[in-house]
Amino acid sequence: MRRFVVAFPSTAAASKVDLHNLADGGRFDLVARCAMTGLLTSHGIRSDTVLELHLGGPPPLTLTLDGRKVTHLHPSERAAAGLLQEALSSWYRVAPPMTVPVDTTPGITARGEDFGRLLDRLEQPIILLDESAPAHAGAMPPGTFLVGGHRGLGMADLAALAVQPQVLRVGLGPVHYHADAVLSVVHYLLDTHNGAVPGGFGGL
Ligand SMILES: C[S@@+](CC[C@H](N)C(=O)[O-])C[C@H]1O[C@@H](n2cnc3c(N)ncnc32)[C@H](O)[C@@H]1O
Repeated sequence: MRRFVVAFPSTAAASKVDLHNLADGGRFDLVARCAMTGLLTSHGIRSDTVLELHLGGPPPLTLTLDGRKVTHLHPSERAAAGLLQEALSSWYRVAPPMTVPVDTTPGITARGEDFGRLLDRLEQPIILLDESAPAHAGAMPPGTFLVGGHRGLGMADLAALAVQPQVLRVGLGPVHYHADAVLSVVHYLLDTHNGAVPGGFGGL
């Protein structure tokens, strides 16, 4: 499985997302675009990918989207935001103790957790996409890819990352990209250099 985490330290995990004003405040437009580029291909869904969207809160919360099970994820920013909002709303309805995972809509699990707890349960090594790291070419190492949202990672997130046992830093060259574009570039590198199976993605 391909595993990605995108961290949005300053985005609130609100019970209601304003679908008419996604870009305001926490940049939920970018969160929705990351869901699309992380999991969708032109004609299908990447059933080989798990995407974790971490919202810094309050409360801090992770939405885990499993490409094998997600349904109703369509290539429209508003529709994708609506699906994520549905997942958030159902987490609020259950109001579980922190860290107890809640299966919300099909293929989307919500978990109240801070960034450190999220990092602790990731497959190692954690591969941080970092603008200041040397540019990477060719096959990607196996591990979990970590990408910063519109503001990158916060100080507390970097401190939590610093105590992880295995962190690799990978750069994608001199151009600084938005998080959703980074997901596309990493998928491209994995598709072309790590042996994606042509036609191996499940249907929508
Ligand atoms: C828009 S950037 C984050 C904001 C930026 N760090 C800032 O100063 O506000 C989004 C994320 O994409 C990743 N990224 C963007 N361009 C990159 C590059 N050329 N190489 C590696 N990672 C990159 C990083 O993880 C970064 O945190």
